[in-house]
Amino acid sequence: MALQISYLLSLLLLALLLPYSTTAQNSSNQYQGSSLTAQEKGPYWASPLGHFAFGFQHIENGGFLLAIWFNKIPENTIVWSANGDNLAPAGSKVELTKGGQLELKDPTGIEIWTSELGGLGADYAALLDTGNFVLVSQDGSLLWQSFNHPTNTMLPTQTLRLGSKLVAHYSERNYSNGRFQFQLATNGLLVLQTLAYPIDWVNTDYWSSGTINNGSQLVFNESGPIYLTTTNGSILMTLSSKSFSKQDYYQRAVLEYDGVLIHYVYPKSSTNRLMASTWSISFIMPPNICKITENIGSGACGFNSYCELGGDGRPNCKCPTGYTLIDPKDVMKGCRQDFLPQSCYEASSETDQFALSEMESVNWPFTDYGHYGGGVTEDWCRKACLGDCFCALAVFGGGHCWMKKFPLSNGFRDQSYAGTKVLIKIRKDNSTSNPSDADLKKKNHSTVRLILSVLLSSSMFLNLLFLLAAFLLAFRFKYWKPKACNPYLVMPGMNLRSHTYEELTEATNGFREELGRGAFAKVYKGVLEYEDRKPVAVKRMNDLVKDCDMEFKAMNDLVKDCDMEFKAEASAIGSTNHRNLVKLLGYCNEGQHRLLVYEFMSNGSLASFLFGGSRPYWYRRIQVALETARGLFYLHEECSTQIIHCDIKPQNILLDDSFTAKISDFGLAKLLKVDQTRTTTGIRGTKGYVAPEWFRNVPVTIKVDVYSFGILLLELICCRKSFEAEAKDEDQMILADWVYDCYKDRKLKLLVDNDVEATNDMKRVEKYVMIAIWCIQEDPSLRPTMKKVVQMMEGSAEVSIPPGPSSFISSM
Ligand SMILES: *[C@@H]1O[C@H](CO)[C@@H](O)[C@H](O)[C@H]1NC(C)=O
Ligand SMILES: *[C@@H]1O[C@H](CO)[C@@H](O)[C@H](O)[C@H]1NC(C)=O
Ligand SMILES: *[C@@H]1O[C@H](CO)[C@@H](O)[C@H](O)[C@H]1NC(C)=O
Ligand SMILES: *[C@@H]1O[C@H](CO)[C@@H](O)[C@H](O)[C@H]1NC(C)=O
Ligand SMILES: *[C@@H]1O[C@H](CO)[C@@H](O)[C@H](O)[C@H]1NC(C)=O
Ligand SMILES: *[C@@H]1O[C@H](CO)[C@@H](O)[C@H](O)[C@H]1NC(C)=O
Repeated sequence: MALQISYLLSLLLLALLLPYSTTAQNSSNQYQGSSLTAQEKGPYWASPLGHFAFGFQHIENGGFLLAIWFNKIPENTIVWSANGDNLAPAGSKVELTKGGQLELKDPTGIEIWTSELGGLGADYAALLDTGNFVLVSQDGSLLWQSFNHPTNTMLPTQTLRLGSKLVAHYSERNYSNGRFQFQLATNGLLVLQTLAYPIDWVNTDYWSSGTINNGSQLVFNESGPIYLTTTNGSILMTLSSKSFSKQDYYQRAVLEYDGVLIHYVYPKSSTNRLMASTWSISFIMPPNICKITENIGSGACGFNSYCELGGDGRPNCKCPTGYTLIDPKDVMKGCRQDFLPQSCYEASSETDQFALSEMESVNWPFTDYGHYGGGVTEDWCRKACLGDCFCALAVFGGGHCWMKKFPLSNGFRDQSYAGTKVLIKIRKDNSTSNPSDADLKKKNHSTVRLILSVLLSSSMFLNLLFLLAAFLLAFRFKYWKPKACNPYLVMPGMNLRSHTYEELTEATNGFREELGRGAFAKVYKGVLEYEDRKPVAVKRMNDLVKDCDMEFKAMNDLVKDCDMEFKAEASAIGSTNHRNLVKLLGYCNEGQHRLLVYEFMSNGSLASFLFGGSRPYWYRRIQVALETARGLFYLHEECSTQIIHCDIKPQNILLDDSFTAKISDFGLAKLLKVDQTRTTTGIRGTKGYVAPEWFRNVPVTIKVDVYSFGILLLELICCRKSFEAEAKDEDQMILADWVYDCYKDRKLKLLVDNDVEATNDMKRVEKYVMIAIWCIQEDPSLRPTMKKVVQMMEGSAEVSIPPGPSSFISSM
């Protein structure tokens, strides 16, 4: 019996390890001529016991990273990389050449990276079980080792010598060099420093060991401690003192992109299978990164922002009232005003247009330009700042008034500032600080941009039409707002799991790993413990948005008419179980928290796949097109309720680990009752993919999705975006127009220039272009159904010659 169980266990273990070892070449030494090619799930070289692997990792936004990673844990955590600044396209090759050099070259033979051994040549390369990749000469001496060329990580047994450093990555998933470094300077000082990004010029030391002239080596002892030693090996200073058994834990020390140095540990096997292992923090330095202060530079966060120390010791970069992040994907880029700042041109007449918003416990200590002491009053301080066009904000406390100038720098929240009041100057007409309004404004702006560019490239008549459309659009956005939603959301009859907020907080490790974000929600990666650590994507609606988020509204629409129809309708999204739709697994609706749990798509969105660094293969693109068409066909015709998705675009098509395309984001979806085939509703969707009937005040049908699909199909064929302001040729700016011109002039080859596979498959290129032109007909009734589209793509229906997409103009 016991034997059986252990047999079963070992089978289980084998099954667990299998996915990671199938393609490993388990011979420790690689001789001259050995090579690896960059491809999805490509081969790699494993260390003798399989703990580490050397090979290519596909990075989200296109391109491959030559890297070393922990290979026996699901996270595949990267510990070293060669080309973070210059990702390699698919098909690139790393080779130990006949001359004994390790070289990374792109498919055309251009060198991306090399180990630079000078005149020497290595006999073989090997990845050791410490994670050190070594190049060894014939006589057995080490010519090169990755341990001597660290990136942002140190591993047990690794040492840093005088002059060596770890450089932080630019961001969590961007491996190029960033804004911080950890250096053992040649004078023996161990320091954390901010850099004058993008070059590696040092701005400020924000932590120092104080061991000038005495430090000689930083040691990461294999049993855990990290310490600085003198020349004769005695310990001068201990950074991280805890010990961990080598048998039971993986360890690494990382200078994170946000400037903190962290010693992480990972239990190799957890005692309880339900309690998953993860990297946990054993030691963190400095104790409060928010307190970086520097004369030049912005401090721990970007300009105009402030830093709040998180419970985990890491910084959260935030914007003051009236400001928003310049780039939500790159929080350290800082914040910008949501309003037009006060002009010094007509300062006096503008004064009454500004107000002061109050904040507490925050300060920007290095940004003063004025200081008024001696018992001034708060009222005086307020008037002084409002009347001074240089004043970005004022800090008042204890009879003192400090005036601060742009850009605000070194901001951080700290209890020691509790007695003072921050008065932030914002424009009174602050409609833009309301998130939904801000979003609508943004839409209007981009619409205006699109319209301008179209105006520049089309006829007078079209111009007039567009102006009319723009006017209607602006008008509709202004007066269209989602209704407030029913806070009591129930999901009767749906095959969905209800989660508590606590469960999802745990599943996402405190909403740690962000996968993406939109105007109303952020999506985080998580794992469901009780479901065998199934990875999921958890979509969390912004708590702040009072108006209903669209997706919840769609769900809620379902729920509100909670009579007989509802169950049938609810199952439409809740239990859509088509292989080309992302599956909704569960939800949470607790107080202000509203979250949706979806299956996790490991290969990200079609947008990053298609517009990322390397062009995806033609046949894979075709596959994605077909799968998307099938998913839409299902939504339109095979569900019990017709669903109009309303926002088909590459960002909303996700790819799972075998690159199967799945439609996601039903945030804007509109459901049609069985006997209803048309609906009138406010404009939904994304510019560039939106069908023209949205702009006319006419009912929309499932044909709006056919239109968006047509645009998507063109993007898949040509591997470019539907609109490119920087196109070489003005005629190529709008993809649909350009494609139709090429089709008409029988010059389809231009569309797939340099794409050998597609060029060898011109028959299909032409067929797909024709299908796409049918899909983007201005007149919705001319567009085929998705069923017909699938049939045409699969070859079971003929494709006839399409008319020009905008033939409706002549009939108007
Ligand atoms: C490589 O081989 C060793 C022993 O021969 C084995 O213990 C290890 O698991 C193997 N590694 C991989 C990745 O297959
Ligand atoms: C990383 O960030 C830098 C700076 O913003 C950018 O230039 C670079 O393209 C990014 N790399 C990737 C792979 O996204
Ligand atoms: C460090 O070096 C200085 C001389 O540069 C010496 O006076 C001092 O004793 C040394 N400290 C330690 C702890 O060795
Ligand atoms: C690691 O620490 C142990 C004692 O804890 C010591 O015996 C050993 O020499 C150290 N290893 C290195 C490489 O310094
Ligand atoms: C060398 O190590 C000994 C202890 O082993 C210590 O007392 C001495 O100060 C060290 N010498 C230097 C120059 O650091
Ligand atoms: C504008 O800001 C002021 C001051 O913060 C606030 O009192 C007011 O409610 C805001 N108005 C709107 C419409 O958000």
